[in-house]
Amino acid sequence: MDEKEVIETEDRLMANVYAKRQLVITKGKGALLWDINGKEYIDCTGSYGTCIVGHCHPKIVEATKRQAETLITCHSFLYNDVRARLSRKIVEIAPKGLSKIFLSNSGAETVECAIKLARRFTGKPEIIAFMGAFHGKTLGALSATWDRKYRDPFSPLVPGFKHVPPDNIEKVEEAITDKTAAVLVEPIRGEGGVRVPKNGFLKGLADLCKRKNVLLIFDEVQTGFGRTGKTFACEHWKVTPDILCVAKSVAGGLPIGVTMAKEEVMGSLKVGEHTSTFSGNPLVCAAACAAIDVLIEEKLPERAAVLGNYFKERLKNLRTNNEIIREIRGLGLMIGVELRFDVYNILTKSMQHGVIALDAGRNILRFLPPLIIEKTQIDQVISVLDIVLGEEKHERLRSSTPN
Ligand SMILES: Cc1ncc(COP(=O)(O)O)c(C=O)c1O
Repeated sequence: MDEKEVIETEDRLMANVYAKRQLVITKGKGALLWDINGKEYIDCTGSYGTCIVGHCHPKIVEATKRQAETLITCHSFLYNDVRARLSRKIVEIAPKGLSKIFLSNSGAETVECAIKLARRFTGKPEIIAFMGAFHGKTLGALSATWDRKYRDPFSPLVPGFKHVPPDNIEKVEEAITDKTAAVLVEPIRGEGGVRVPKNGFLKGLADLCKRKNVLLIFDEVQTGFGRTGKTFACEHWKVTPDILCVAKSVAGGLPIGVTMAKEEVMGSLKVGEHTSTFSGNPLVCAAACAAIDVLIEEKLPERAAVLGNYFKERLKNLRTNNEIIREIRGLGLMIGVELRFDVYNILTKSMQHGVIALDAGRNILRFLPPLIIEKTQIDQVISVLDIVLGEEKHERLRSSTPN
């Protein structure tokens, strides 16, 4: 198929639910992608954050190939050596105390599991989430997601969810009742604009939950696995939740979700109450074992911290900074750049110059590159942004100057 045929076929046959860019990607290596015509791009999306170890990391490729020749699928009603190995590796890197895991296939599924766990363990129905939060689009997770454009077409949603303003402990306390099972929070809101919480908020939230006997759930689907410069973002604030969700990158780009919980919390689920056919299938488990090895051996969280600071510093020094950029924020290689105007032109033009980035709302650029990205590649991204933001500034000046 050529480029035109691929686009035409997907458009014709697939649900029209993705805001598509007119780009057909056929190959990836490290932080680079190539389109069907052989043009090279720096991937600052990390495939929406799933690609922490880079595209087609040799260790993931090798582990997946080897496992594919041995055993691809094995339902969890039978034991499996690779699944056991993965569970050990996850619990070894998990925040202390989170010693039991449930494996699934996506971020939203990890949240579904967390919601069910909270209700099952406490016997209470209510979950408190935050305005601006994103937790996925399956019905339970969607009920915790804030944005009305995702929620409204699908009402009635799951009852029992409340949203409170972020960064405000008093409002959380006011919302807690004797029916509250848990508070669900993204340590850094990703889709909601790359927003780092106010200092002391997450610690205060953990103390409040403990005092009120309410579970604390961290959704680290986007922040987890080294992205923010620590293996889990909760480590920045020295807070350990009762339940923690990770997904996206845990299997080096293959679909996986991991819900971790304290032993007594996970123990509340009885046989048959929460299962999934592909949960813990050996192929994905082998990839995840390799991805965890790479994370540790290549010191990816530390690398994200150093390169993230470098990236942000270079962004601050862009020539157009003052006129065009309102704020640069984020931790590690989870970076948001809030502009004074819509980002869509910038994303399109950057792509023409060989850089693919994301938005996180109308006027926020978001960068989630693989953590193996090279400094020289960050320099290239900065050069492209310099050109593109400079052009945008001139065009805006020209269109605002009377003839
Ligand atoms: C914080 C957070 N939670 C949940 C999800 C949902 O993950 P998935 O798209 O894998 O279902 C996402 C996806 O971006 C996310 O960022």
